[in-house]
Amino acid sequence: MKKKIIAYNRVEQPVLDDLKEKYDVRFFKNIDTNNNPEFLNHLSEAEGIIGLETPVDVDMLNHAPHLKIVSNVSVGYDNLALEEMTERNIMATNTPGILTDTVADAVFGILVATARRIPELDHFVKKGQWQAEAIGEEHYGTNIHHKTLGIIGMGQIGNAIAKRGHFGFDMEILYHSRRRKPEAEKTLNAGYRQLEELLEESDFVVMITPMTPETEGMIGKREFQMMKKSAIFINGSRGKTIVEQDLIEALENGWITAAGLDVYEQEPINLDNPLLNMKRVVTTPHIGSSTYETELSMSQLAGENLQIGLTGKRPPNLVNP
Ligand code: DGY
Repeated sequence: MKKKIIAYNRVEQPVLDDLKEKYDVRFFKNIDTNNNPEFLNHLSEAEGIIGLETPVDVDMLNHAPHLKIVSNVSVGYDNLALEEMTERNIMATNTPGILTDTVADAVFGILVATARRIPELDHFVKKGQWQAEAIGEEHYGTNIHHKTLGIIGMGQIGNAIAKRGHFGFDMEILYHSRRRKPEAEKTLNAGYRQLEELLEESDFVVMITPMTPETEGMIGKREFQMMKKSAIFINGSRGKTIVEQDLIEALENGWITAAGLDVYEQEPINLDNPLLNMKRVVTTPHIGSSTYETELSMSQLAGENLQIGLTGKRPPNLVNP
């Protein structure tokens, strides 16, 4: 009998096809995992889950007595009840490394788009407004080159963002992280700062920490008020690392100038969220790692993690403590 596997939300087709040859795979997309009888039925016999941000909570684990591994197709794993999984001897894996440059490209792209108001101006041209109006200062953007880029979370992705800023845009790099990064200090001339100092000194503040109990709500009213009035805030981490309502307040009150967001407290974002009506907010739908090449590599790596875990061996990208 083939082992039962659940594939959830996103596993690229070649990987799915390969898994289907070896396992009894059922693919589910955009469902409420706590209330879908077909899903829960398959879960009751499943030994593995592979997918994008499957919300694995204690309730779900109680429905999954045979589960051995959850293989995330993502670097983040805040979707998992990790301690509980570890207690139950269920492995968890992620896909680090291969998406680093892709996410850094996206975050830097959002930064450029926000500073130079690219989506807004694209709309302006396509709506025929350029014919009627001359370009005036209401369309001007902000320089990026030679400005100060403050990065909160100097892991691999933070470092790749810093490289883009330093080598591509001659920016001064500041960072705040749990640990000092001597290599970045040497090669990128990056300066370590306490969080408050970084917020006060930076022209661009980029949030790229993993979502953990320590980083949840890390940037709120107090932190937005510490930033420069001209600051541009970019969130490429997880929506809940900031207090979204406080960001709305910060933009409404002019505590900061603009924001570029790839992640939100609730995803997909609610259409009545005030952020969606703000000119100086640039939004993308959590697409940091979503390129053809990187999604395929991530699925392949997640597929390998899954298959190794199913044999009972330790997969390379195990994240259990
Ligand atoms: C990641 O890999 O964590 C991306 O944000 C997709 O969830």
